[in-house]
Amino acid sequence: MMSPLTLPFPARLAALLAALAAPAALAQQASPAPPAAGAAAAHKPAREPDVIYVPTPERVVAAMLDLAHVGKGDVVYDLGCGDGRIVVAAAKRGARKAVGVDIDPERVAEARANVRAAGVGDRVQIREGDLFEMDLSDATVVTLYLLPDLNLKLKPKLLALRPGTRIVSHAFDMGEWKPAQVRQVDGKTVYFWTVPPRAKAQARTGR
Ligand SMILES: C[S@@+](CC[C@H](N)C(=O)[O-])C[C@H]1O[C@@H](n2cnc3c(N)ncnc32)[C@H](O)[C@@H]1O
Repeated sequence: MMSPLTLPFPARLAALLAALAAPAALAQQASPAPPAAGAAAAHKPAREPDVIYVPTPERVVAAMLDLAHVGKGDVVYDLGCGDGRIVVAAAKRGARKAVGVDIDPERVAEARANVRAAGVGDRVQIREGDLFEMDLSDATVVTLYLLPDLNLKLKPKLLALRPGTRIVSHAFDMGEWKPAQVRQVDGKTVYFWTVPPRAKAQARTGR
C-alpha cells in the first residue's frame, strides 16, 4: 500500500484523517504529553509544510537511535520534529544537544511541552522554521521522517556535513546513495548512512 506521505497533499490529508480514525493511530497520538495549553490557538505556519505530520512509533524511534548509536556527546537534529519524540528520546540517551525544527507552530508548541514534561529542556532546543534553512554544521546525527523527494533535496546538504556524521531515515531512502544498513521494525523500514570522506561525497553530489 502507498504510504500516506507519498500521496499529493489533499490526498495525504485525507489519508491522514483516515489513519487517525484507526485505533492504533489514535494510541500513537495519545502516548506523548498532551499539547501545551493554547497550542490550538498558535499562529499559522509561515508556509505550507512540505509533508504532513505523522509521528514515528516509539519502537521505530528506538530502532533509529540504536542504528545511529546515539549516546553521550552526540548532537542530534530531527528535521521536521513533530511532537519532539525523537529529540526527547535522544536526550534521554545522553545526547549533549538535540535540536528539533518544525515549520508548524502547533507542532512546535506540542514538542516544547513534551520537552518540558520529559525534563530534558537543558539539552533540547525546539525551533520553529524551515528544515531546509537549518545550520547543521555541528550535527553528529541527523534524523528524518519526510518524503522521498525531500530526502533527495536534502542529500547534497547531508553529504556536505562532517565525514562520519550519521544519518537515519524512517521509511524513505536516498536514491542512489545506498544505505550502510537497513532495519525492519514492526513493518516499518529504517535506513542508515554515514557521511563519507569529502572526495566520495563530492563524487556523489557531482560537485
Ligand atoms: C512525518 S512528520 C515526522 C515527525 C517526527 N520527525 C517523527 O518522526 O515523529 C514530518 C514533520 O515535518 C514538518 N515539516 C514539514 N515541512 C517542513 C519544513 N519545510 N520545515 C520544517 N518542518 C517541516 C511537519 O510539520 C511534520 O511535523
